[in-house]
Amino acid sequence: MRLEPLNRSANLGPVASPAVAVPRGYAGHGAPLVAIVGATGAVGVELLRCLERRRFPLSGLRLLASARSAGKTMEFRGAPVPVEELTEDSFRGVGLALFSAGSGISKHYAPIAAREGAIVVDNSSAFRMDADVPLVVPEINADALAGHRGIIANPNCAAIVVGVPLWPIHQVNPIARIIVATYQAASGAGAAAMAELVDSTRAHLEGRAFAPKVLPHPYAFNLFSHNTPIDPRTGYNGEESKVIAETRKIFGVPDLRVSATCVRVPVLRAHSAAVTIECGRAIAPDEVRAILAKAPGVKLVDDAARNHFPMPLDASGQDDVLVGRIRQDVSDPSGRSIALFLAGDQLLKGAALNAVQIAELVGAPAGRARA
Ligand code: A2P
Repeated sequence: MRLEPLNRSANLGPVASPAVAVPRGYAGHGAPLVAIVGATGAVGVELLRCLERRRFPLSGLRLLASARSAGKTMEFRGAPVPVEELTEDSFRGVGLALFSAGSGISKHYAPIAAREGAIVVDNSSAFRMDADVPLVVPEINADALAGHRGIIANPNCAAIVVGVPLWPIHQVNPIARIIVATYQAASGAGAAAMAELVDSTRAHLEGRAFAPKVLPHPYAFNLFSHNTPIDPRTGYNGEESKVIAETRKIFGVPDLRVSATCVRVPVLRAHSAAVTIECGRAIAPDEVRAILAKAPGVKLVDDAARNHFPMPLDASGQDDVLVGRIRQDVSDPSGRSIALFLAGDQLLKGAALNAVQIAELVGAPAGRARA
């Protein structure tokens, strides 16, 4: 499956042409020219849709991808927009650049965009752990945006969907320890991995051989330890290390005790996770439900009578992280531990939506910034 541009119209006219460059920190400077780097990718397509449905104010849109995609068009607000090849000259006049084309592209081009005066919201891991780069989930640490130097990092998708429901609990009863096992969808590895899941499943059902090209193992009717390299020192893979380090940075607790096991499952686009937290004081499941019932970005799906709990299919296409299976962890007699299960759309809250929310906060007039 290839995520094709939505519209192949012959009209290659852009939505609008920027007349002047928008200075950094476009709040108060009018709507920016927005660039999407990796516009044709799984996240890029969702960035476009998020800008559209959230009516993000922009003066023009520049869609950037590899030379392979140059000349295609994608539809935005009912008009075709041409996809251009990413070059070092792509950022002239750009006020906001949303990057989702991998960390190599971000490392090279994000500093160029920032030098041109754009605010960069980067979906890759390139700058996340840099001390002077804010790593932001708006529901958690919007205040970290203050004093950014042009590049803002969007966290790892699993760290976002796990962090959103845990943060409001942490505000009431500080979390001392998090143990998480993830069930991660194909979308986290991009459009080609989603295509591989579909194609290999079809081949399996038809009894045809299928050689994996994107992921290291057979994906149909299988699951495997996350496809990032293992650190020989710790035994954790790259994804697990990101979840641990990024959760600590986002929560602002450098020594937070976190352990993660990250697994790739044959699901197209929403990540799930089984999470156990240990709080500072005793906490009851009903207290957690009451906290999460009013938490931003969270939807309780905890219907024991109907055995209806968070599922990736239900989470797909939703902005909220679904949370349920909230129960006392019986292995902790102190009553301080809670187990829960969650599912969140990796392409939305785990990536595109979070990035657009960040952009909204950066552009909001001072004092009106809200997640
Ligand atoms: P393209 O579609 O032209 O290959 P995904 O995460 O779904 O795999 O998407 C990756 C995105 O990054 C796509 O939009 C892809 O564009 C883009 N991309 C990949 N390599 C480059 C490159 N060298 N220059 C610009 N964009 C790239």
